[in-house]
Amino acid sequence: MPSVLFVCLGNICRSPTAEAVFRTKAAGTDIIIDSAGTGAWHAGEGPDPRSRTEGESRGYSFAGQAARKVRRSDFTEFDYILAMDAANLRDLAEIAPQHMTAKLSLFLPDGQDVPDPYYGGPEGFRDVVDLIEGAADHWLSIISADS
Ligand code: 4NP
Repeated sequence: MPSVLFVCLGNICRSPTAEAVFRTKAAGTDIIIDSAGTGAWHAGEGPDPRSRTEGESRGYSFAGQAARKVRRSDFTEFDYILAMDAANLRDLAEIAPQHMTAKLSLFLPDGQDVPDPYYGGPEGFRDVVDLIEGAADHWLSIISADS
């Protein structure tokens, strides 16, 4: 079954939002979807309430999500590992095992970052969902074509 892991720094804002949006977009497919953070500060916590508020207002569910850190096995268990920003991608490349089988990429197809909204206002959280919704269809068609 095709699989995708969305990765950001804390796994409480951007990648949980990507997970929630993608679960809706990929409904009816057998794609395995998860998210993780390169940092472990928030491990075990649910998504940030500001992300939940914005995502849920657009109909996305964050049910069952709990933050976790990226682990070595992710690099062989997932087909795609998609980083929310360039720093996340760099951190992933640094810890990737040589025998990695996952395709590692930035999430936004135009090579831009999904900006970290954590220390900003609500508009940052709106932008995150806008950017993620825009790119989710792109990845859905790529990942579906693999299966
Ligand atoms: P995320 O946002 O990477 O989109 O989950 C952040 C969450 C927490 C922190 C930074 C970014 N933090 O520094 O704790």
